[in-house]
Amino acid sequence: MANIANSEVFQVPNFKLQVMTKEDIHIYQSPEDLANSFAHKLMIWVKEHPEEKFHLAISGGKTPDLLFAALADKYSQSPIWQKVNFWWVDERMVPPTHPESNFGVAQKLLFSQISIPEDNIHRIKGENNPQEEALSYSSQILKNLPQSENLPVFDLILLGMGDDGHTASIFPDQMDLLESDHICEVATHPVSGQKRVTLTGEVINSASKICFLVTGKEKATRLKEIVSRSSDASLLPAFHIKNAHWYVDLAVAQRN
Ligand code: 6PG
Repeated sequence: MANIANSEVFQVPNFKLQVMTKEDIHIYQSPEDLANSFAHKLMIWVKEHPEEKFHLAISGGKTPDLLFAALADKYSQSPIWQKVNFWWVDERMVPPTHPESNFGVAQKLLFSQISIPEDNIHRIKGENNPQEEALSYSSQILKNLPQSENLPVFDLILLGMGDDGHTASIFPDQMDLLESDHICEVATHPVSGQKRVTLTGEVINSASKICFLVTGKEKATRLKEIVSRSSDASLLPAFHIKNAHWYVDLAVAQRN
C-alpha cells in the first residue's frame, strides 16, 4: 500500500492560487509520487462507492502509464476490479494492437496484470469507422450509466492536458465539442490529422468527480493560465472543465 506520508501534497510557496482553492490542486514531488498517491485514493473512492458498479472513464497519453503501473503493482489482487467499469474519455481511431491505442496501453500495463471481468471493460473500438463507433459507444454509455438532466453520469473521469491546453480529444481548434449535444463526437488531431472519438464537454462536466492528472514543465504555462483565469485561458479546452480537482507534479506547478 502506498505510504501516503511520503507523497504528501507539497505547498509550493510561489505557486499563487488566485482562483482555485487549495483543495482543488494537489502538488506532488514527482510523477511517481502522484501516481502512487492517486492509486491509493482511487482504491478508497471505489471501495466507499455505494453502488455495485463504479464507472470510471480514463484518458490516454503518457501520464496515466505510471498510474496503471502503480495499480498493477500494488492492487493487482484487489477485489475492487469486480466493481470498476472502465470507459475511455477518448480513443485514437487505430486498432487495439496499435502502439497509439489508449486501450492497448491500458491492456498492456493494467488489464493484463489484474483479474477484471471482460464485461467491465468498455473500449472504444478504434478499428471501426469513427462516426459509426461514436454512435455505438454513445449508446453503450446510455445503456449502462445512470443519467442526470439527460446526461450520462460517470462516477469519476480522469483527464490529462496537452501543452496546448487540450483535454480529452477536444483541441483548441475544435472548441464546439465542449458544447455538443452528442455524447461522443469524432475529433481530428490538429497536427497529425488522426481521427479520434471523444466524450464531449457536457458529458465530462456531468461526472460526479473529475480529476486532472498533469505532469511535466511543458504544461506549466497552461496550468498557470487556467488557475489564474488569464485572458487566454478561455481559449483552452481544459479551462472549460468545471469543478475539477488537479493532481500535478512540482515541475508543472512551479512558476515558469
Ligand atoms: C489522448 C488523451 C489526451 C491526453 C493529453 C495529455 O488520447 O492523448 O486523452 O487528452 O490526456 O494529450 O497527454 P500526456 O499524458 O501524454 O501528456
